[in-house]
Amino acid sequence: MDGHDLLDGKTGIIFGPLNEDSIAWSIAQACHREGAEFVLSNAPVARRLGSLDELADETDSDIIWADATDDEDLEELFEEVKDAYGKIDFIVHSIGMGVNVRKDVPYEDLNYNWYEQTLDVSAVSLHRIVKHALDTEAIDDGGSILAMSYIGAQRIFSKYSEMGDAKALLESIVRSFGYRLGKRDIRINAISQSPTKTTAGSGIEGFDAMYEFAERVSPLGNASADSCADYATTLLSDYARMVTMQTLYHDGGFSSMGISDQIVKAMEDSFAEEGDEDPS
Ligand SMILES: NC(=O)c1ccc[n+]([C@@H]2O[C@H](COP(=O)([O-])OP(=O)(O)OC[C@H]3O[C@@H](n4cnc5c(N)ncnc54)[C@H](O)[C@@H]3O)[C@@H](O)[C@H]2O)c1
Repeated sequence: MDGHDLLDGKTGIIFGPLNEDSIAWSIAQACHREGAEFVLSNAPVARRLGSLDELADETDSDIIWADATDDEDLEELFEEVKDAYGKIDFIVHSIGMGVNVRKDVPYEDLNYNWYEQTLDVSAVSLHRIVKHALDTEAIDDGGSILAMSYIGAQRIFSKYSEMGDAKALLESIVRSFGYRLGKRDIRINAISQSPTKTTAGSGIEGFDAMYEFAERVSPLGNASADSCADYATTLLSDYARMVTMQTLYHDGGFSSMGISDQIVKAMEDSFAEEGDEDPS
């Protein structure tokens, strides 16, 4: 897609690109295409897990390593960002990790230390990031903040487990801050994205089935990371200046569907295989 200078003259920070599958990686590429300048950030541990240098080269960006659960790291990060750009116009939070989910611990038996870690990394980190952006006066009036969510915040997707709770908290933080940031015309929204094949996505047991199910239910099919990034640029731009406190579905129509012909057919075939041709 050609750029339209949607973010010409805007500066920001993008948290969460790890490798080229990451949603934040696509968001950085799209923001660069639209004329924005930004810093990339990820946890120090990602230095050896990912390939962020390549993205920094491609988008002419600097990297600041910071653990999004660490107040000192975040304060230093925003001071550095301010030194580089003055006040910034946008923040993208694309961070998530379910510790119990990764370790296959069922919801009924959650390890509470890991649960706290999951909520801290995946949701409270948004609160910390916004707080430190405000305290350091790094974000400008009229800015836009964006976080990434999933429909598992609002409906049960059994294998999503504790991450459903984390995303529900994330969406609530979006609303709670949205109210408070409004007086400075700062907007904050969440994109609720289709299942996407990334490192975080693939860490969820049953992810492939969730992905295929959504693909067959959504009238437009699953939304890719690249299309999500295009949508993100509109929300970071002035064209969305009156949109705030929203969870915005970017899911090919999945959230408005019940069942589709494809799923009906698949269910009929599977019932027939089980020798139970008339499930009624
Ligand atoms: N992949 C999907 O199916 C899907 C669907 C909807 C929403 N999302 C959300 O999109 C966002 C991005 O995930 P992704 O799918 O691109 O996977 P990803 O693994 O590429 O990105 C997750 C990022 O979080 C970072 N991170 C983890 N702990 C951190 C910490 N303490 N401090 C700073 N960064 C930390 C990781 O290093 C990684 O870069 C997440 O919020 C995820 O929940 C993903």
